[in-house]
Amino acid sequence: MGFMSGKKALIVGLASKRSIAWGIAKAFSREGAELAFTYQNEKLKPRVETMAKELNSDITFPLDVANDDEINAVVPTLNKHWSTLDILVHSVGFAPRDQLAGTFVESITREGFQIAHDISSYSLAGLAKATLPLMKNSQGAILTLSYLGAIRAIPNYNVMGLAKASLEANVRFLAADLGPQGIRVNGISAGAIKTLAAAGISDFRKMLTHMERVAPIRRNITPEDVGNAAAFLCSDLAAGVTGEIMYVDGGFSKIGMHLDES
Ligand SMILES: NC(=O)c1ccc[n+]([C@@H]2O[C@H](COP(=O)([O-])OP(=O)(O)OC[C@H]3O[C@@H](n4cnc5c(N)ncnc54)[C@H](O)[C@@H]3O)[C@@H](O)[C@H]2O)c1
Repeated sequence: MGFMSGKKALIVGLASKRSIAWGIAKAFSREGAELAFTYQNEKLKPRVETMAKELNSDITFPLDVANDDEINAVVPTLNKHWSTLDILVHSVGFAPRDQLAGTFVESITREGFQIAHDISSYSLAGLAKATLPLMKNSQGAILTLSYLGAIRAIPNYNVMGLAKASLEANVRFLAADLGPQGIRVNGISAGAIKTLAAAGISDFRKMLTHMERVAPIRRNITPEDVGNAAAFLCSDLAAGVTGEIMYVDGGFSKIGMHLDES
């Protein structure tokens, strides 16, 4: 029996088998959790349905986090299958492509700022608020995905760094509010991983090469690495952990200087 046996988890942010959400879903399923998935749009629907089936889930439904009606439909839709929800995984991030190239000062626009913060940060609070009726008193957990750009200036990450900083503050405020209602809220700051979202960041390949060379574990992070940490954080094993940003980045964020070129 896995350590997530009996848990019901909604996973938001599955797009492909490279998605961090896929690594998380696989780890949750291996540890015995029951899963439900959302897809952003009709184009992703068949792909998400097929992946869900692989993990024995037939609960999939549309959710564009920019759309309040779709956020408000989450609970009624889930209620057709489940009467409670133990875990919400928010693995969603977006900024227009022109925001993720060039310098921060050159690229930043009011519209880019608004979109990045709306989709990548507000949506966590919006979903936490909407799913509260199902999660209340569940001894449940909410998890989101952040990146080092929240606390360091990273080339080309630009406005997404600001959105991730907002997201990390969001984790702390939600943890403070929802803790008394039995819900823990944490984030994982993952190392760079080649996914569809990451492909939008200019020079992303160079980031991967750099991390592989410099990170203490001398390799890049995989969705499976993140999935295993997520399973721990969303299980009762982490019952004493909330408001935390856990780094799953091979130690990259802990290095101040790297002189050895080998
Ligand atoms: N890949 C990395 O290097 C990396 C590192 C650290 C953190 N992250 C974060 O991990 C999370 C997942 O990204 P990923 O790298 O797995 O990429 P991905 O492209 O596989 O997943 C991003 C998901 O966001 C969803 N999404 C975007 N806009 C949406 C909207 N309006 N409504 C609903 N869903 C929407 C997409 O459909 C997709 O499923 C993001 O928050 C990302 O910022 C990624």
